[in-house]
Amino acid sequence: METTSTPHPHSEKKKGGQATIKVCLNTKCLQKGGAEIFANLKEGLTKEEALILPVYECFGYCKAGPNIALNDNILKGVRPFTVVEQVRRELDNPSCKADGLGSKSLDALDAVLDDITRL
Ligand code: FES
Repeated sequence: METTSTPHPHSEKKKGGQATIKVCLNTKCLQKGGAEIFANLKEGLTKEEALILPVYECFGYCKAGPNIALNDNILKGVRPFTVVEQVRRELDNPSCKADGLGSKSLDALDAVLDDITRL
């Protein structure tokens, strides 16, 4: 007798893959709890949910820190004891972030445009 298996509707894993979280551990963010944030993310999230990396280069938003970058979108002013929930909320419903790690200031873009137009 042949059997077929149909996955239970609630047993399917959520798609989307593993996120990458970079935790700023430069001076200012470290003073504001960066190490605790890093430890809590490591403890609170599974490896399937996220790869958590320490970053020692400043993201450039020290005043608003401590900061993390979730898939290169910067989340500012995260708190050690709520960061895991905040990351999960963000993964479920990503907000639009203007401050990606790859973004440049308008002044920096002007310089790039000047170089291009000189060619
Ligand atoms: S030290 Fe973390 S953003 Fe500058």
